[in-house]
Amino acid sequence: MAITTGEFDFVREMVRKKSGIVLEPGKEYLVEARLSALARQQKMDSASALIARVQGSPGDPLHKLVVEAMTTNETSFFRDLHPFEALKRVVIPALTVSRAASKSLSIWCGASSTGQEPYTIAMTLRESIPDIDSWKLTFIATDLSSEMIARSRAGRYNQIEVNRGLPAALMVKYFTKQGLEWEISPKLRSMIDFREMNLTQSWPGLPPFDIVFMRNVLIYFDAETKKDILRRVRGLLRPDGYLFLGSAETTMGLDDGFERTQIEKSGCYRIRQAMAKAA
Ligand SMILES: C[S@@+](CC[C@H](N)C(=O)[O-])C[C@H]1O[C@@H](n2cnc3c(N)ncnc32)[C@H](O)[C@@H]1O
Repeated sequence: MAITTGEFDFVREMVRKKSGIVLEPGKEYLVEARLSALARQQKMDSASALIARVQGSPGDPLHKLVVEAMTTNETSFFRDLHPFEALKRVVIPALTVSRAASKSLSIWCGASSTGQEPYTIAMTLRESIPDIDSWKLTFIATDLSSEMIARSRAGRYNQIEVNRGLPAALMVKYFTKQGLEWEISPKLRSMIDFREMNLTQSWPGLPPFDIVFMRNVLIYFDAETKKDILRRVRGLLRPDGYLFLGSAETTMGLDDGFERTQIEKSGCYRIRQAMAKAA
């Protein structure tokens, strides 16, 4: 049985408040499908039964599961390729020169889903900086969803997932076959500190960053939420740092403190020079 307008409105408001994700009218089918699957997992009869339980029990852990069920976790290794080419050819070479004295680099991958994006960055770093192990690397990957963080930490991918975007040479070099899955090498896994973190809440304990990847997540938020997140990213990005957004995302019209530059075939955002000097 389809969910009612009232049930949809309740879920939509709760998801917006807790995650910033905007579910436009017309997405009833999506809510229905995702919550029906969650209801089955929870041994409940229907999405409506699940919503009734959530409505009647404010502190129930089910609230978090409902919000997580409404996230879209689409990702892949080397997704869109060009940002990683830009990283390899321009960004890493520039930063290894400018950070040569401190030999330190800090990277944040916000909204990292099941981990393919941060592991792609980690492979790119290893392939580009032969003495990476002698660098002081701070590499934090965050996502709202505890399930996504657990999957990232496990670092195990099925054949379909590794077939999507991962070059064979890197698969052989950085993964080992475990039954039907491919497991990421401990060398790569230990480079990344995976943390559960909601972008619409406070960001405790994040240091200044040289590189921020925050791709394909702002699209789910309203303009005010995007503005707030971009302003806070700008506060954390070093004056000569680099921000990569998804190909359908931009800072334009949202945060004048960033300017778009083209690096190879990838768009990238940097702090406007006047702002960097004023900081
Ligand atoms: C489409 S995936 C993008 C994954 C990866 N960045 C990429 O481009 O391939 C979006 C991710 O954003 C996460 N997300 C959604 N809302 C969030 C929020 N408020 N805070 C942190 N992560 C969030 C979801 O859990 C999901 O894993």
